Amino acid sequence: MNFNLQHTCADSAARAGMISTAHGDILTPIFMPVGTVASVKAVHQRDLADDVKAQIILGNTYHLYLRPGTEILHQAGGLHRFMGWERPILTDSGGFQVFSLAANRKLKEEGAWFRSHIDGSKHLFTPEKVVDIQRIIGSDIMMALDECPPGTADYDYAYHSLQLTQRWLKRGWDRFKATEGLYGFSQTFFPIVQGCTYPELRRESAKFVADLGAEGNAIGGLAVGEPTEVMYDMIEVVNEILPADKPRYLMGVGTPANMLEAIDRGVDMMDCVMPTRNGRNGMLFTMNGILNMRNLKWANDFSPLDPDGTSFVDHAYSRAYVRHLFVSQELLALQIGAIHNLCFYLHLMDEARRHIIEGDFSQWKRAIIPQLTHRL
Ligand code: GUN
Repeated sequence: MNFNLQHTCADSAARAGMISTAHGDILTPIFMPVGTVASVKAVHQRDLADDVKAQIILGNTYHLYLRPGTEILHQAGGLHRFMGWERPILTDSGGFQVFSLAANRKLKEEGAWFRSHIDGSKHLFTPEKVVDIQRIIGSDIMMALDECPPGTADYDYAYHSLQLTQRWLKRGWDRFKATEGLYGFSQTFFPIVQGCTYPELRRESAKFVADLGAEGNAIGGLAVGEPTEVMYDMIEVVNEILPADKPRYLMGVGTPANMLEAIDRGVDMMDCVMPTRNGRNGMLFTMNGILNMRNLKWANDFSPLDPDGTSFVDHAYSRAYVRHLFVSQELLALQIGAIHNLCFYLHLMDEARRHIIEGDFSQWKRAIIPQLTHRL
């Protein structure tokens, strides 16, 4: 993997760049649609490539390991072939899902024990094993096993959690290095900064991560219950230390405004279930504000879904029709909602990139955030 930093803003830390992987290039800043179980929910791979213009998508080690399992993925020749997606894929390590989904999880020095949320079977994820699984999946970017404590964790918990995450990181990194060159194409490994809401722990973690010398670095443990301003402060603290010549990936964030604030602080990559999940629930983001598609006010509005939208669904269907689909619980509503929101998120990233390159990102961001959060 290679990162070419193309432009940095004069009056903020925002940057534009290009990541090159074995499955193609990614222009940054970038939003990565979440395809947890080898599917971006309700969106065909064709629409994801041609309409949404997704440049990279996410998969998840926890989910893919449980179903379909590594044996099937191995037989298929990896996740790209299994799901018919030829562009880059990033896989999360599964640490986060073990804590949010699995039952009876227990953290030990060796790794995380858990019971499957599907059939109750017992499993152990070690830092080495999640590298091995991600090798079989064949993701272009794999993530380290970490613990992501809640945003409300006290200092003592946060401190000990970070020490464990760091010991796991070293083990995962060693396994990654020992297995380099074994797969059919080049894969890379991103370490994850933790440290909850404590600046000194965040700095310690960022130094530890930076010293590894990975090709890209991630910031985890944010948008997990801490106030938004604290999240922004933590991003700033960490990005003062993470190397500027490597991409920085902020995990699990966020709203359109959160993403622009993160970019302003030097973040290059983001992912979140929000556009797909909220889209399936009828909450659509636009450049002019947020639409609730179940609202009665759209019942006889025959204007296009989003006249400024970049997706074919924005011009093919009226608000009245899409409202009808949501109220009638038609499956097509889920597809339209997910596709519209993903197109919007990707378009917002294109716009951010354009304004970074043109030199007016900060003014644009300040002007657009109130517009984006307005309820239509
Ligand atoms: N997704 C959102 N936040 C996190 C995190 O802190 N760690 C991991 N592994 N995945 C995440």
